[in-house]
Amino acid sequence: MAILLDGKAVSSAVREEVAKETAVLTESFRQPCLAVILVGDDPASQVYVRNKHKACEACGIRSLQYHLPKETTQKELLALVQTLNGDPTVDGILCQLPLPEGLDEKEVILSIDPGKDVDSFHPVNTGRILSGDYGFLPCTPAGIMELLHRYEIPVRGKHCVVIGRSNIVGKPMAMLLLNESGTVTICHSKTKDLSSFTRSADILVAAVGKPDFVTADMVKDGATVIDVGINRMADGKLKGDVDFETVEKKAAFLTPVPGGVGPMTIAMLLKNTITAAKRHREADQ
Ligand code: GUN
Repeated sequence: MAILLDGKAVSSAVREEVAKETAVLTESFRQPCLAVILVGDDPASQVYVRNKHKACEACGIRSLQYHLPKETTQKELLALVQTLNGDPTVDGILCQLPLPEGLDEKEVILSIDPGKDVDSFHPVNTGRILSGDYGFLPCTPAGIMELLHRYEIPVRGKHCVVIGRSNIVGKPMAMLLLNESGTVTICHSKTKDLSSFTRSADILVAAVGKPDFVTADMVKDGATVIDVGINRMADGKLKGDVDFETVEKKAAFLTPVPGGVGPMTIAMLLKNTITAAKRHREADQ
């Protein structure tokens, strides 16, 4: 039976560390601050934004919330980002995606000061990941690396297979594994004979968005299996991309859904906000 990688427990440990650093920064500099912009009324986005707000408050980070109506124009949204870019008391800026139809996400991401881009979506920050010169790390892949580190699962020389090539998860995940000397294969919807790759994976990361996509026959005995999927089923329950019941019997380590990768994402956002605040402190001295 696989050992479950407990994202809740690791996330709590990270948050405690963040709270300590926040206290030091507040004392020696000023209170770290994260500004979150939400445009429109997407229910899932509202939940995510509320959770980010709660997480900030719980560890002492100042949380600014901007909830704009779905009729907001691109110009108005960019103007708000510019105001936050220029505000010396704001360390991190996050614009919750997806944006309502008619708004240009790429332009909004480009408008965020890379030094405040705590999502690490700006091309300056994604480019830095390629060279291994990390500024901010994208929250989900960074959370997965943190889980691997805390459970002392080695990456060096291991075959790491990532299923999914999104800009937010798949591509940066592959780079973080490569930067730690993994031998990395990126698979996606057009990959032929997917199982031939996944069956040789020591570390398998599934970021597909399809419930129970990874079945036991696709997994090597003793592999580490990371499930990034958050699929909401008709009965309201969450299901991952990995068929938990069968894979649990074959893998050595497995992340549950919920309670695996999910809780790590917000913890890494808080960590990025602290990184930004420390940089702002250094720039001030
Ligand atoms: N929408 C879903 N996940 C995320 C995230 O990590 N950051 C932002 N900005 N939007 C999201």
